[in-house]
Amino acid sequence: MKSSQIRTLWNQFRTEKNHKTAKPVSLVAPSEDKTVLFNVAGMQPLVPYLSGKPHPNGDRIYNIQKCIRTNDIEDIGDERHLSMFEMMGNRSLGDYFKKESLIRSWEFLTNEKYLNLDPNKIGCSVFWWYEKDGEVIIPYDQEAHDTLLSLGMNPKHIKAIPMFHGEKCDNFWWPAGAIWPCGPCAEFHYDRGDDYGPNDWNIGINDRFIEIWNNVFMEFYKDEKGEYAALSQQNVDTGMGMERLTMVLQEAETIFETDLFFSSISLVENFTSTSYPALKKNESLMSEVELAVTKSYRIILDHVRASIFLLSDGVVPSNEGRWYVLRRLIRRAWFHLNKLHADHNEKELHNFIHDFTNHIFELFDKQYSWIDQSDTQHKEEIAHRLLQEIDKFLHTLQKGEKQLKKTIQWITSDTLSGDDVFLLYDTFGFPVELTQEIAQDAWIKVDILWYEKAMSAAKKKAKSSSKDKFTRGVDRAKYLEGVQPTEFIWYDTLESLNPTILKQFQLDDGQRIMVFDRTPFYATWWWQTGDNGTLELDDGTLYTITNVIKYSGVFLHFVE
Ligand code: SER
Repeated sequence: MKSSQIRTLWNQFRTEKNHKTAKPVSLVAPSEDKTVLFNVAGMQPLVPYLSGKPHPNGDRIYNIQKCIRTNDIEDIGDERHLSMFEMMGNRSLGDYFKKESLIRSWEFLTNEKYLNLDPNKIGCSVFWWYEKDGEVIIPYDQEAHDTLLSLGMNPKHIKAIPMFHGEKCDNFWWPAGAIWPCGPCAEFHYDRGDDYGPNDWNIGINDRFIEIWNNVFMEFYKDEKGEYAALSQQNVDTGMGMERLTMVLQEAETIFETDLFFSSISLVENFTSTSYPALKKNESLMSEVELAVTKSYRIILDHVRASIFLLSDGVVPSNEGRWYVLRRLIRRAWFHLNKLHADHNEKELHNFIHDFTNHIFELFDKQYSWIDQSDTQHKEEIAHRLLQEIDKFLHTLQKGEKQLKKTIQWITSDTLSGDDVFLLYDTFGFPVELTQEIAQDAWIKVDILWYEKAMSAAKKKAKSSSKDKFTRGVDRAKYLEGVQPTEFIWYDTLESLNPTILKQFQLDDGQRIMVFDRTPFYATWWWQTGDNGTLELDDGTLYTITNVIKYSGVFLHFVE
């Protein structure tokens, strides 16, 4: 079944069951939600309605919502993790509850009009109980259990799972934010067959049984003291990962071998002149090289797709918060593209990024606002921003990678010291994740704990260094009176031609500072060092810009 057909069936099914669509929203979390940077689940934008506020489209709603979770970015590269994914979900806002939710989920999964999955291959978790100080606070979910039995589910396929079940699984859903609506889950799982593990129906633990649909019965909220209290209404919040479901329905080995990624794979193959390693059921049969290439492909596929979506939602790469997440995704994707095809030239990269962007717009045309195939200008802008960020990264990398390789070459132990890693980060802005990956390729370990110590010491020091040197110890008014805030033009260009010098002066310690009307240089932010680069005056004199700090909107360039 094609993924487009899954979308159509979902719309048809929910419409038949009297649901109205809740328009999918941006990946960026609503501004009033201070707990997350992104929408991490389909219900995230709906928290106010799950808490009792009437929804304009009624009390039965559904949609397919794009979501992003970046807490497990390091796991991307395996067969089922993605940073951005789509969540098909329906919500009852105080209308139907547990029984109807489970009956309808079963119908959609097994009825031949819809997904037509084999009922014998489906199992489900039910909520164990939760007790505190010997008192049962949330009881065993007998109703879910009985409902599943009444649907004909094999009793051996029903598994009581506590709130937390080992490292892999929990059976209670909390959105980020401790006091928000929450509740027990019933998670439908699908049996992928004997090739994937023993037939023990140990769902949540045994990877043979893959989670396909979470039904959350949201009837609690956590109060400020951490106690569970009843919400004013009993809600249902379900979520089905589009990519995982497609994988099951297309009997694909992994989410990346579905029609959601197929054509993107060819683009990467064309660009890198490599092949996505032959699909082998058991990854242990793959060589080290095949495994590494597979991982790089998956990272590229995921990160470029997610970056295009983030850019289309108006996020721009930068050094903090969600902007830094985007920067990291783009830079990591480039790193792996380069790993597969180090000899690419600028034109090839340009074409690849444009083709990939076009392809994503084609694949998701009008599914989400801003993804509109006919909007050529928007597409161009996204490709342009991706290339611009890569270009910026190249400047950083060239210097950092040279230094790192030199360090690795001369290293006398099997571990790269935390100080070396920190130096690379601090001096060249070289991302620590990349240091780790390059070191790993050379079979060198990284002393990450020591690096973190050095980092935290530097954060403390940064507070009393360059910025404070200027802001505390110096008479600001003397230097900056009447100076207009600087226009930051990094988004458009990395070069500023003929800028006007608004001010130049020397600090007491002899440090020369220049202020221009506009600049492409990043300023130091918190513990991150600002950009460095070159300044060429009309008479041809060359200066080095060693650091940039921002004060009241004015960018101060430290010039040597
Ligand atoms: N919020 C639940 C989840 O993300 C169900 O949608 O799993």
